[in-house]
Amino acid sequence: MVGGIIPCLRMFLLLAFLFPAFVHCRVRHYTFNVLMKNTTRLCSSKPIVSVNGKFPGPTIYAREDDTVLIRVVNHVKYNVSIHWHGVRQLRTGWADGPAYITQCPIRPGHSYMYNFTITGQRGTLFWHAHVLWLRSTVHGALVILPKLGVPYPFPKPDHEAVVVLAEWWKSDTEAVINEAIKSGLAPNVSDAHTINGHPGPVTNCPSQGGYKLSVDPGKSYMLRVINAALNEELFFKIAGHQMTVVEVDATYVKPFKTNTIMIAPGQTTNVIVTANQGSGKYMVAASPFMDAPIAVDNQTATATLHYSGALSGLRTVLTSTPPKNATPVANNFVDALRSLNSNQYPARVPQTVDHSLFFTVGLGLNPCPSCKPANGSRVVASVNNVTFVMPTVALLQAHFFNLKGVFTTDFPGNPPFAFNYTGAGPANLQTSTGTKVYRLPYNATVQLVLQDTGIIAPENHPIHLHGFNFFAVGRGIGNFNPKTDPANFNLVDPVERNTIGVPAGGWVAIRFRADNPGVWFMHCHLEVHTTWGLKMAFLVDNGKGPNESLLPPPKDLPKC
Ligand code: C2O
Repeated sequence: MVGGIIPCLRMFLLLAFLFPAFVHCRVRHYTFNVLMKNTTRLCSSKPIVSVNGKFPGPTIYAREDDTVLIRVVNHVKYNVSIHWHGVRQLRTGWADGPAYITQCPIRPGHSYMYNFTITGQRGTLFWHAHVLWLRSTVHGALVILPKLGVPYPFPKPDHEAVVVLAEWWKSDTEAVINEAIKSGLAPNVSDAHTINGHPGPVTNCPSQGGYKLSVDPGKSYMLRVINAALNEELFFKIAGHQMTVVEVDATYVKPFKTNTIMIAPGQTTNVIVTANQGSGKYMVAASPFMDAPIAVDNQTATATLHYSGALSGLRTVLTSTPPKNATPVANNFVDALRSLNSNQYPARVPQTVDHSLFFTVGLGLNPCPSCKPANGSRVVASVNNVTFVMPTVALLQAHFFNLKGVFTTDFPGNPPFAFNYTGAGPANLQTSTGTKVYRLPYNATVQLVLQDTGIIAPENHPIHLHGFNFFAVGRGIGNFNPKTDPANFNLVDPVERNTIGVPAGGWVAIRFRADNPGVWFMHCHLEVHTTWGLKMAFLVDNGKGPNESLLPPPKDLPKC
């Protein structure tokens, strides 16, 4: 805790002395009480794990350069850890949050102070539980405002609102995933999607309310849209209104207009909407995107944009949602994303590559004698055919304290054998298992091609990398061709983000610089795929310079 405050204080005093008008470095304090809360949705009640009794949880506000201290107190029967999704955590991996990767979880009755400074980032991110399936109800927005006096690189909106998209299950999500693990089959899908915690009226519960955003005619609104769902990519639309996209994953983009955004779990998108239509109530809709033969929750969540001054009984303007398999709608949106790449916000795309990696991502089938419903096998997932096995001690602790036998550094840089990745797949669908990391020297530049496989089914995988932003330099359908595809890479203004969709039956290429020492998780942000093993970690060594080493752990780091 002291480590975070002292540098901030020192800077504060120095700056206050030199330029009294420009001081903004602050410490923000939050307390998260993780507790059960009885909650009614879809006309029935159930207890959910919540932060401070809220669904979605409280929004964290900070400014770029602030130090944020969040005391998390665990009052529930589950182990808990919280991840600040997209916060780079420069040298402070101890505050990153994924259970058994950077920390042991916080045990029932215990607490932990997350302490990190936000450096070089501004925009919308979110926080969520990073253990079991608790993320389904334990999540909320994390808003990083620009430094005081620094404007947005677009006309300042009159108002801002956080829009958290998620899912609602009638049953307990821990029971849902435990049942699936026992059977070897896929878990049930959710019963509804939610917009700021509410599904809106649905067939079996027409009285179910929806979120309402009141708008004043002529005013502009920045919506900070977050997909906090466990397993579903979503289309988001507003009847009768265009949206101007200005930022994704807390990086500015070249603004463009669209009537539909596609947002995968783990992604955030800021859009500006102007209330320039006739008075009325305009439907806001979140509906699933799934272009593979895989079951999804087909419920559309609805909310309303409610013009103020509207008399009661005014018209309601509806919107249609894209079909769930509307790949072209998703592609149009993804293809339009470009880094702003201005003088003030340059895109620092690595132009040379020290480590060129090729990872297949997809499913597999392993033997499971007790899995009767799945005929003696279970669905698994893997990266380069390795199904990641969670350790029982955090990898970062094992790394820092040199504990042997927790992980190995032989994660393969290429698949074990080549095949037609997007075709029917090899005869043997079995994966290997292990707790393997890929080791990188400090400051190495990395190019990583993520290739979807057609094993069991091709599917869009939103891959999230902790500890870094990366640039999405290329994307294609079919098998990546290392001879011809790199010629088409965008090394000038590719979108910079922390979570990227690997298209169903296709690939994406990303680049990043390993300038953050520590152990950094990378996984599919569809929670079911993470559970099945579609995850791995990078171990980045310390550099030699003064600010290039992982800091020591805080005193209250939870024990396993
Ligand atoms: Cu938002 Cu490792 O996750």
